[in-house]
Amino acid sequence: MKTFTTFDRPAGWVSLSHAFQDDFAAGDRVQQTPWGGLAILGYAELLALARDPHADGMAPSVEAMAETPQIFELLVRSVFTKSGAAHRVDRAALIAAMNAVEIPALVRRVVAEIVPARAEGLALKSGFAAPAARNVWAEIIGYDADAALRLEQAVHDMGHVLSPAPDLSKAAVAEAAAAETRTLSREALSRGSPFSAALAGGVGEEAAADLIAGMAFDAIEASTIGLAASLRLAAQNRSRITPTLPCANECLRMASPAPMTMRLTTGHIRLDEIDIEPGTPLFMLWAAGNHDPLAFAEPGVFNPDRAGTRPLMFGMGQHACLGHAIVRAVLQELLAVFLDREARIEGDTGGWNILLPGDMPAMTISY
Ligand code: HEM
Repeated sequence: MKTFTTFDRPAGWVSLSHAFQDDFAAGDRVQQTPWGGLAILGYAELLALARDPHADGMAPSVEAMAETPQIFELLVRSVFTKSGAAHRVDRAALIAAMNAVEIPALVRRVVAEIVPARAEGLALKSGFAAPAARNVWAEIIGYDADAALRLEQAVHDMGHVLSPAPDLSKAAVAEAAAAETRTLSREALSRGSPFSAALAGGVGEEAAADLIAGMAFDAIEASTIGLAASLRLAAQNRSRITPTLPCANECLRMASPAPMTMRLTTGHIRLDEIDIEPGTPLFMLWAAGNHDPLAFAEPGVFNPDRAGTRPLMFGMGQHACLGHAIVRAVLQELLAVFLDREARIEGDTGGWNILLPGDMPAMTISY
């Protein structure tokens, strides 16, 4: 079996379809990684594993996180690192809480409030996408505007150690941010938004605060990057953009803003005649699956009319993303702003290491 080396190219790629095209041409859809475990690239393989009850959450390693115990605690109490019955209980409570929110109406109201009437050279990511992601999440959870900004800063600070290239010289800053995230989540709970009240009712106040804190990274960072990267694609494919779900899905498929997440096998799995032992880390390369030519014809071409195959930017199965409806709704609202106001999105549209989505070149929006 081939050893996974695709991440070793420091200069990156112009697009995700370029990143994985050699792997797909050679038929290397499952590879072993130099760090132990398997890299899963193929769409069909990702789908099969994502839905297999034995491909569950992966708890963080206490040894690897010895220098950041607060971040370790935050991760270990998050839903995505859990497995088995503990995961099912938390996930069911989170789904019930999400069902208490009128997502499209809330998103429409918040986006209408925060999008400025005019924009001249506004930073696309920090000035346009981030306020939308941050304020929608704040409204759902019950943070006030000040707490939402503090949460965004805390997520940024935790990113120093929660990245593919962690910087442990910033461990103290990241630790303080993890503590701040938990404090903010406790305060938000006390405001009793429909989501928070339902969650606290389901799992109790302490666990609810932990679950909310554990979602901060996805809700703020992944969403901001996903919205900004999608708008960058919208600017490049303006003639095909509509403020609709298929269009939002195609933007998010091509951007795949969470390129990889981890699962861990809890039992024996047989996949493509490969025996996977219990305790095997799985590097789930959703970004690769979204560009597998066996699943998506001409994967590098923006085509909102694709039908049939469900893209994997939010994962799939028992750990699938719980924020997908929020992200899709916000993106549709921002695409409507982009079209209605005939916005220009400008800046560096050249290549970037798209596997490090946070490194997206600076762009601006004007209307
Ligand atoms: C563009 C933005 C986002 C992307 C690309 C994204 C992507 C993902 C992916 C790939 C997974 C792993 C799925 C799997 O293993 O099958 C995941 C899990 C998760 N996401 Fe998101 N996400 C985004 C935004 C959000 C938001 C806004 C929230 C807030 C509610 C959220 C909450 C979660 C949670 C709680 C999980 C873990 C679910 C579980 O383990 O049961 N995500 N996300």
